[in-house]
Amino acid sequence: MEDIKLYVTKHKDRFINELIELLKIPSVSADTAFSQDVLDTAEAVKASLEKAGCDFVEICETAGYPIVYGEKTIDPKLPTVLVYGHYDVQPADPLELWTSPPFEPIIKKTEIHPEGAIFARGSCDDKGQMYMHVKAFEYMIQSNTLPCNVKFMIEGEEEVGSVNLKTFVENNTEKLKNDVILISDTGMISNQQPSITTGLRGLSYVEVEVTGPNRDLHSGLYGGAVANPINVLAKMIASLHDENNHITIPGFYDNVQELSLEERVEMAKAPFNLDNYKKALNLNDIYGEKGYVTNERNSIRPTLDVNGIWGGYTGEGAKTVIASKAFAKISMRLVPNQDWEVITDLFTKHFTNIAPAGVTVKVTPHHGGQGYVTPIDSIGYKAANMAYTETFGVPAIPVRSGGSIPIVALFEKELKSKTILMGFGLDSDAIHSPNEHFGIFNYLKGIETIPLFYKYFVELSK
Ligand code: BES
Ligand code: MN
Ligand code: MN
Repeated sequence: MEDIKLYVTKHKDRFINELIELLKIPSVSADTAFSQDVLDTAEAVKASLEKAGCDFVEICETAGYPIVYGEKTIDPKLPTVLVYGHYDVQPADPLELWTSPPFEPIIKKTEIHPEGAIFARGSCDDKGQMYMHVKAFEYMIQSNTLPCNVKFMIEGEEEVGSVNLKTFVENNTEKLKNDVILISDTGMISNQQPSITTGLRGLSYVEVEVTGPNRDLHSGLYGGAVANPINVLAKMIASLHDENNHITIPGFYDNVQELSLEERVEMAKAPFNLDNYKKALNLNDIYGEKGYVTNERNSIRPTLDVNGIWGGYTGEGAKTVIASKAFAKISMRLVPNQDWEVITDLFTKHFTNIAPAGVTVKVTPHHGGQGYVTPIDSIGYKAANMAYTETFGVPAIPVRSGGSIPIVALFEKELKSKTILMGFGLDSDAIHSPNEHFGIFNYLKGIETIPLFYKYFVELSK
């Protein structure tokens, strides 16, 4: 497929400009202030699929933000690839840490991306990666090389838990029928060493509220005589890990799938440089669960992290006060065989149990999902590996990721098909952080690699 290279070279500027237009719309699903922008983005995605050559595209309404669905059928007897992606993005804050405004995309060179990277919220997660599929599809239509049927399902609520997508999938299993699901919403090791994500962690996300006195109190008049909810919350959170950084919630590890020594040896073969890792994050040392190395701690082991904590006075100067309430948002990343609803229950019981007299505790679950692992001997995995080998010159390495795309496990349950995670982002692309970016190299390489996946998938399916 030398043609795709030519096509990408010829249309490169347009591909970049189209993505830039998409990135200008602030489709932040978590913040209702942006709801019109999220809806506008759905329309823009719909238009791009129509233009690229879908037979028909529709906006499917849900109880939340809509799902953009499109399809191209060339022959019902041929296999069908279902492409999933998301057009919503994470909130851009803290704004002051961006070197250029998050919704005014700009191309800048970096050490890792000497040919330039597009800086904007959503550039890598996931608008840029999702749009690679639209452009790869455009190429296959234009060159008459689309070897099978395609369905696109692009949602607008991934960053807030895909709650309505779940219902949509459950209600539309026939419409969404496919032979393989293809997603670019993960990363790879480096621009020299591609990798294919073979695992995602599950997730349980909860919010806790600790209440002490019925009103904020003078910290001199009452300090020492009543429970301070912030002190108590801090102590309760600290107790959730022991001195070895194991999680102390009873039953938490009960169903955790332990890897064999062979599997751990295999994992350790993926290139990893501890010094570079520390340098990239400006850390004087690493941290984590005893008995596991960094690459295991962030992929095959479950974790518990506070994502936000607040309460009391945080304004300028000092105010002497004991707050009535303290809050925290906590995420637990889960591994295969841990059920997120069971874990949410275990957390709720334990957190309520350890509350001392003098406070009351409320736990509110937000969202969650199961983890996912996929074998490397499937047709889909092999096709992806053949595609990467051709465009990068080296085979891809299978890697289990620490991130979560909770809907993937549901796809397998409802649609009975495997998901192939062909991610083109890099860890240094700063997804969810200020200055998120996506390499031009990665964007174009993705567009070049995706048609090869289709080609090999269809060949291997014969
Ligand atoms: N694309 C990410 C997940 C991801 C990134 C997986 C890199 C592997 C490598 C996705 O958009 C995401 O951020 N997921 C959330 C979960 C969701 C329920 C909010 C996450 O992992 O925090
Ligand atoms: Mn994503
Ligand atoms: Mn994300």
